[in-house]
Amino acid sequence: MSNEAKLLIEGQEHVLPVTVGTEGERAVSIAKLREVSQHITLDDGYGNTGSCLSNITFIDGEKGILRYRGYPIEQLAEQSSFVETAYLLINGELPTRDQLRQFSEGLTENAYLHEDMRYHFESFPVTAHPMAILSSMINASSCFYPGLMGPANVERLPIHATRLISQVRTIAAYSYRKSRGYPIIYPKKNLKYTANFLHMLFSQPYEDYELRPEVVKALDLIFLLHADHEQNCSTATVRMVASSQANMFASAAAGVCALWGPLHGGANQAVIEMLQEIHASGDDGSKFIEAAKDKNSGARLMGFGHRVYKNYDPRARIIKAACDSILDKMHIQDPLLDIAKLLEDKALNDSYFVERKLYPNVDFYSGIIMRAIGIPVEMFTVIFAIGRMPGWISNFKEVVENPKSRIYRPRQVYMGATQRDYVPVENR
Ligand code: SDX
Repeated sequence: MSNEAKLLIEGQEHVLPVTVGTEGERAVSIAKLREVSQHITLDDGYGNTGSCLSNITFIDGEKGILRYRGYPIEQLAEQSSFVETAYLLINGELPTRDQLRQFSEGLTENAYLHEDMRYHFESFPVTAHPMAILSSMINASSCFYPGLMGPANVERLPIHATRLISQVRTIAAYSYRKSRGYPIIYPKKNLKYTANFLHMLFSQPYEDYELRPEVVKALDLIFLLHADHEQNCSTATVRMVASSQANMFASAAAGVCALWGPLHGGANQAVIEMLQEIHASGDDGSKFIEAAKDKNSGARLMGFGHRVYKNYDPRARIIKAACDSILDKMHIQDPLLDIAKLLEDKALNDSYFVERKLYPNVDFYSGIIMRAIGIPVEMFTVIFAIGRMPGWISNFKEVVENPKSRIYRPRQVYMGATQRDYVPVENR
């Protein structure tokens, strides 16, 4: 195949270079298009637009493939841990035993927030959504690290990354405790990442939470499966903010805001609310499936469909299997899981969904596991954000370490009023 594309505009032929990725993806480079043709491209929602070259994550949406730094998600889910996968995403290689120990120790040492941060938590109403708290407290925490401000100094990135990955967990736990009126529980030095989070979330001053290995492993898997996902809405937002040379915490806080939307990370909360509504109505899901196909119903099968996957989301397959296993180990029968499975079965055999290549995505089953663990539904998207933090940081790093990085500044096509003169108010 040629590495050039020819574009004919108003009789003039423009030859544009084609970039080919290591997995054979092909892109027409339009960096000079406006200069040579006085035209730009238009792609609402960026469905056909590559924003960058990246070495971090590869997705093949047609085949349902997901790899972090070349490692298949299925192998990482089976053999790795969230912290090891975080190291892989940020540094590009799996850590040696010593590197992993040092990284893990750094996360433990940086689990505390500055004590003055507690006063910020006091100012939130108990009804504050944890995603609002998370985004604002990430920025608040950055105020305690003056070294973070100003153009990202690359050699300090590792400590900024360690602090952020560790503290996002502490902020999340504190926001939950605040929302329930519970006293804050400090991290413990002898607990690893996910176990420490569960401890800070559910222990009481008079009694430590019982850390069941199957529960710690299930939540660690959820974090791992959410760790990165190429140029999704929130990661693209992180890169956008990073391109202006804002600091890592500011970029991550922006990512939290983008992730919050129900079409993105907020979908895991929306899925459970959808399943609860179906269950409460006495429907087994059959009626809902019909409504989800009717554009006028306002219903949407949350947790289904994906901009890139036109096949089963490999993460959904892993999480669905984990649902059965964790609920079995915990002796939990969740009617919402039965409804979810019926919805999936009906959708995968219904022409509306099949024609549109709509399959379960990562959010369809993840909430079932979080419910079984006892995580409240309003914390589900926060869990997604904790998992996605290493991916956001890897993308932030890729932007700031690239000497050719330019500020992201898309163009537009103006469709508004053409020039007109000001009309004084007395004449309007
Ligand atoms: C995540 O990008 C990522 O990588 C994201 C993510 C990550 O890890 O970062 O994977 C995480 O955000 C997963 C997606 C979570 N969102 C949901 O589950 C919300 C429900 N899904 C949809 O809203 C939708 O599928 C999107 C937002 C995920 C994708 O939207 P697109 O690509 O813009 O697709 P579309 O809205 O243009 O849909 C195409 C057609 C439309 O019908 P027609 O106009 O062709 O008749 O499919 C229909 C849509 O109405 N459709 C659905 C549907 N999703 C799409 N119909 C019913 N139920 C759905 N869920």
